[in-house]
Amino acid sequence: MKPILSAPVLLAVAATMLLVRAQAPVTLKEAYRGAFLIGAAVNAAQFTGQDARGSALVKTHFNSITPENVLKWENIHPRLDTYAFDLPDKYVAFGEENQMLIVGHCLVWHNQIPGEVFRDARGNLVKRKVLLKRMRDHIHMVVGRYKGRIKSWDVVNEALNDDGTLRQTLWLRIIGPDYIAKAFKCAHEADPHAELTYNDYSLENEPKRNGAIALVERLKARGIPITSVGLQGHDNLAWPSADEEDRTIRAFAELGVNVIISELDVDVLPTELTEGSADVNAHVNADPSLNPYVSGLPDGVQQTLARRYAELFGVFLRHHEVVRRVTLWGVTDGDSWRNDWPVKGRTNYPLLFDRKGQPKLAFEAVIGASAGRPAN
Ligand code: G3I
Repeated sequence: MKPILSAPVLLAVAATMLLVRAQAPVTLKEAYRGAFLIGAAVNAAQFTGQDARGSALVKTHFNSITPENVLKWENIHPRLDTYAFDLPDKYVAFGEENQMLIVGHCLVWHNQIPGEVFRDARGNLVKRKVLLKRMRDHIHMVVGRYKGRIKSWDVVNEALNDDGTLRQTLWLRIIGPDYIAKAFKCAHEADPHAELTYNDYSLENEPKRNGAIALVERLKARGIPITSVGLQGHDNLAWPSADEEDRTIRAFAELGVNVIISELDVDVLPTELTEGSADVNAHVNADPSLNPYVSGLPDGVQQTLARRYAELFGVFLRHHEVVRRVTLWGVTDGDSWRNDWPVKGRTNYPLLFDRKGQPKLAFEAVIGASAGRPAN
């Protein structure tokens, strides 16, 4: 049978592909310029330069940063009367020196917060009024300090259960359901120009997504200044499907809020026990069968991961008018929280750079997927 393309044509196609590749943008932020920002969650070693390799990768490839831990309540406000601004100040300075969109993560969450915030000197739970004041003081102090510099805040984090109802936290128990609205109001008072986000995981699952939609509708109906929803994106090779991702972005866009992919990573390890979750309080006992790639990721899985990243970025790009930013939750595979959750001490490969800081096939795939971005 005659080949569909003759040898000279095939050669020309190959040469064109090489040319396109040679001219293709080689940094993530350039590849998606005009579509959305590309962010990374950074740790203190990266933004202080102690991890020089990680720091250089962040500067080269990303135009937004989110603090992986240093702005969380227990770190920035470790005692009721003590704030610790040293590392947060350095984080913000790093973002400014490198002209990045600086994100604040996160103001009101049930994790990584000292227990004393919710209790009086005797150890009893405080009353609503007291906790509201503590929340307000914290938000005004932290948002106020970085007013106009941190332009995007995760105001409330993970307030929903998987079934879409409000999670039973001490915030809810002591203040009541309006703690969410109050938090957004305080953040808006402290910096009226900041982007204010409700951030959660597994919103691609219908019951939880419906809960979030209802929450955003309630807030908007009351005139609460929520500007965006953060889809964390702690994904795996199969979940969520491209359709679910698409449907989810569309659903929030219809509510008139922006969408942020706020904590993207793709788990390649066995996940059936925790499908689609990112609940840091869930733990699974270690077992060798749950840690199959200790000495390296097989080529086949590397390719599946690359295709998966291309698929996800394809969906984000289709919605570039509403997706403001895609933030990877970490820089290299070695940095990722996914090595320790839900099973401690595994070897995972969820990001775009390997443990030596080298770009992976998934990196190439993400660059490749940018071909359809809008013209600048
Ligand atoms: O700083 C201490 C260190 O002093 C100590 O020696 C070490 C021993 O384990 O722990 C260190 O603290 C760890 C901290 O990360 C800093 O590395 C905590 O144990 C560990 O639990 C904590 O994990 C963080 C997790 O949130 C906790 O809630 C992860 O780094 C961070 O990636 C993760 O991020 C969350 C988002 O904020 C919200 N969405 C889910 C996402 C993933 O869980």
